[in-house]
Amino acid sequence: MPTLALSSSNAAGVKADVVIVGLLAAAGGPSLAAGAESLDSALGGRLAEALAALGATGRVGEVTKVPTLGAAAAAAVVAVGLGDAGGPSYDPEILRRAAGAGIRAAAGSRRAVVALPVDGRDALRAVCEGALLGAYSYDRYRTTSRAAHLPPVEAVTVVSAERRAKDVVRRADAVASAVALTRDLVNTPPSDLHPAELAAAAVTAASTAGVTAEVMDDKALRRGRYGGILGVGAGALHPPRLVHLRYAPPGATTTLALVGKGITFDSGGLSLKTAAGMEDMKSDMAGAAAVIAATAAIADLGIGVRVEAWVPMAENMPSGSAIRPSDVLSMYGGKRVEVLNTDAEGRLILGDALARASEDAPDYLVDVATLTGAQLIALGSRVAGVMGNDDDFRGLVVSAAGRAGESMWPMPLPVELRKSIDSEVADFTNTGDRYGGMLVAGLFLQEFVGEGVRWAHVDIAGPSFNTGDPHGYTPKGGTGFAVRTLVQLAEDLAAA
Ligand code: BES
Ligand code: MN
Ligand code: ZN
Repeated sequence: MPTLALSSSNAAGVKADVVIVGLLAAAGGPSLAAGAESLDSALGGRLAEALAALGATGRVGEVTKVPTLGAAAAAAVVAVGLGDAGGPSYDPEILRRAAGAGIRAAAGSRRAVVALPVDGRDALRAVCEGALLGAYSYDRYRTTSRAAHLPPVEAVTVVSAERRAKDVVRRADAVASAVALTRDLVNTPPSDLHPAELAAAAVTAASTAGVTAEVMDDKALRRGRYGGILGVGAGALHPPRLVHLRYAPPGATTTLALVGKGITFDSGGLSLKTAAGMEDMKSDMAGAAAVIAATAAIADLGIGVRVEAWVPMAENMPSGSAIRPSDVLSMYGGKRVEVLNTDAEGRLILGDALARASEDAPDYLVDVATLTGAQLIALGSRVAGVMGNDDDFRGLVVSAAGRAGESMWPMPLPVELRKSIDSEVADFTNTGDRYGGMLVAGLFLQEFVGEGVRWAHVDIAGPSFNTGDPHGYTPKGGTGFAVRTLVQLAEDLAAA
């Protein structure tokens, strides 16, 4: 993570290698956004003209880099498109993405100044987050450098006239480091992140944030009759875990329970995936990572809500000890599931965790999971689906996501799909109708949510892992999706 500082000086006055400015699109040609004035004067008032000569238009997503040739302290200017803005204030997410894209384009430089139009605390927060999130790079396993892979910016200074904004910087730092931790965990090769190592990472994150942590190993899971987690983990050499994190700030009156899917590798088990289908399955613990990191960030920021996180972890592997299609598992709490497809494993470990989390009667319960390929079919790779048993609470989650700059969309749990998981031999099966597969998975999970617990299920199969090119503040690979929403939701509940 780069360092982040604010400066009330102007863009030309801050010592840096690169200055990032905004460019607005208009019919008559692009114009500079507020914040770029001093730099433009240093360049003889001809910056917009120079950018236009290079083909810059100011459209959203566009990045244009120009040298200053000694006319300014910084060696280069990065102009990022902000579109036609459409009013006096900017959509914070446009600014967040612009800051991220600008910082990515500045890679290879040490210090960057961000001189975007930050009017108000929401805009400042977005720019700070975008800059920090855009400076991410996963290099742990690299031994040679590539021309195409420049080291990320190390120091970010955001120009802002906002006074008493220390808390904005602190929040951006906490949120961005939680997102970076999530990305790191997701990007780690699965042979270096079995359930035991993921559990250890949770304990480390918890200890730095003053959260209490308890790890249940396979022996404890057998004692506790966690049949779903044990069943999914049965085929692997590396045994499963269940991690419980607790953040209990004094005076908190609301309890938010979190559950995250932690499949450290999903081969499909005996219902084996194809080779292509397995390529990105190290990311099948992205929900677990997001829940762990968000819990740490919520504690770090001292948000006034109690958090009880239950994170089941297992490796889904085929072997002589693996569960078979048609096996029946006795889940935590006693319900019986006929496993028809061992690749529908996430719902099995989540069923146990949801039942356990419900036992303490939390006010709210949110699970985050890379649960179904059907999520990608329904909503694409950038929008998560949100289901639940309470329309108002589902709305709160979707609304928190919107303000945090993450795309989530409400989805139904149609009762008529429920009969597709009726079983001939047990209480229900783990797979049903293929059409609406995301919703069927949600209906399965609902069976394990306790009476009276307001619950939302977030399917992040697509948004958690970027298989395309980097964009905005989003790198390739692990994205850290859902962390910002969970922190925002905790803040919203604490304020309510
Ligand atoms: N981890 C996968 C879902 C997934 C697929 C996440 C692609 C990210 C990208 C999950 O465990 C799975 O395999 N789901 C099956 C369920 C099916 C067997 C009912 C699926 O979606 O195909
Ligand atoms: Mn699977
Ligand atoms: Zn899975």
